[in-house]
Amino acid sequence: MRALAISSVFASVFVLAGCGQGAAPEQAAAPAAPPAPVSTVTSRQIMLGLVIPAADIVWGVANEAPADDAAWEKVAATAAMIAEAGHLMSTGSRVVDQGDWLTYVKAMTDAATAAAAGATAKNVDQTSEAGNALYDSCDTCHMKYMPARATEAK
Ligand code: HEC
Repeated sequence: MRALAISSVFASVFVLAGCGQGAAPEQAAAPAAPPAPVSTVTSRQIMLGLVIPAADIVWGVANEAPADDAAWEKVAATAAMIAEAGHLMSTGSRVVDQGDWLTYVKAMTDAATAAAAGATAKNVDQTSEAGNALYDSCDTCHMKYMPARATEAK
């Protein structure tokens, strides 16, 4: 069965190679790369649509431990999405500056990654401690970069 599958792969390579020989010159040019997807979401949308709901799930572990393996896996995946939000916030027009912004994004990403590790280990304490660090990372950035809070006394 395996030998059959391999030989059919060779057969199709052979057929494709055969096609190429007769190709007209204009068809031989490298195909144009498909356009890269454009990311247009703002940091505010990332907060509202991803970070806040995901963080609520991570913080919820302290109140009620996930019931089974599948529930833990969802918490781990949700925490990983916060880390991914950090990636989004480190690219494109969302990068406010190359200093504190990136430092604070990294703090959020690191805390979210630690929370994901805690959930993968199905450990309530580990997940909750990372959740506390996550909370601090939100707060630190907001004190400087959230317009509504930037005027608060330092
Ligand atoms: C690197 C900076 C940064 C980090 C880290 C960060 N935020 Fe934000 N957040 C912002 C900015 C900037 C805004 C304001 C966006 C705007 O209104 O244009 C904001 C806005 C918000 C808002 C207000 C939305 C509203 O209704 O006005 C909430 C709530 C929020 N973030 C939650 C979180 C949580 C929860 C975390 C951590 C898990 C977090 N943020 C991490 C930068 C950050």
